[in-house]
Amino acid sequence: MQIFLSVKKMQEWAFQAKKHGETIALVPTMGALHAGHLELVRHAEKEADKVIVSIFVNPSQFGPKEDYKVYPRELEKDLRALSQLKVDAVFVPSLEDMYPEGYETWIDLEKLPGHLCGLTRQGHFRGVSTVVLKLFNICLPDAAIFGEKDFQQLLVIKKMVRDLNLAVRIVQHPILREHDGLAMSSRNMYLSEDERKNASVIHRSLDRAQKLYDSGERKSENLIQVINQMIEGAGGKVDYIKVCDLNTLNDLPAVDSDALIAVAAFFGKARLIDNIVLRAKE
Ligand code: PAF
Repeated sequence: MQIFLSVKKMQEWAFQAKKHGETIALVPTMGALHAGHLELVRHAEKEADKVIVSIFVNPSQFGPKEDYKVYPRELEKDLRALSQLKVDAVFVPSLEDMYPEGYETWIDLEKLPGHLCGLTRQGHFRGVSTVVLKLFNICLPDAAIFGEKDFQQLLVIKKMVRDLNLAVRIVQHPILREHDGLAMSSRNMYLSEDERKNASVIHRSLDRAQKLYDSGERKSENLIQVINQMIEGAGGKVDYIKVCDLNTLNDLPAVDSDALIAVAAFFGKARLIDNIVLRAKE
């Protein structure tokens, strides 16, 4: 497993791999790798000849009051975990290399970022799409793997790839969960023992909404109310609960077609997100 700290070296390696006819799968991460990330890496092995994992805590996707400074950084532990898998290259660029002085080019989608997390995290998706495009240009992947927990991120990236005719296949991977259903996230590290126990209500509330839907409930406000009550009842502070269109993320008053239920809630200082997809019944 090779480790590249510079953009130039990483790009040269990727060019060489392509020159030899090898395909590349990229798993972009911000490090503090958990079992969910490692599952994405295992999946990447099936998608291409070579696997690159990038580790970069991207400042441009954090708001001024967000957790950029304290975001967990555990490079040595991450590298140890990756060395156990079939990873060919790890890309760990410096801030200066990714955003040199005078940097001023940004990717900004018009509509998708105006929903869900984009409402409270101004500029977040501008930062995400920009860094992901940069990673694609540096690592030259044929496929890139993203988890479905960040469903809006996944849609933004798919849209960018389509709109800009990028030659990369976006592979989405189902949410990986802890034994009690809590979606795996690097931010789970922020939870105290009690908050950690309580936070599993997010998944239970989505499960409850799924059951209500299965038994015939179609009104979004009723589904939202149940989720809200359960999360607030367990001490969480809801940022949003939305029932929305799977592609546009526009609010749906009723679930008559495939729909996404997306939730963001605070437990202590950890802002956690999760979602489920409701499939339309015949
Ligand atoms: O999902 C993440 O960890 C980040 O948003 C990503 C895609 C690595 C971009 O910084």
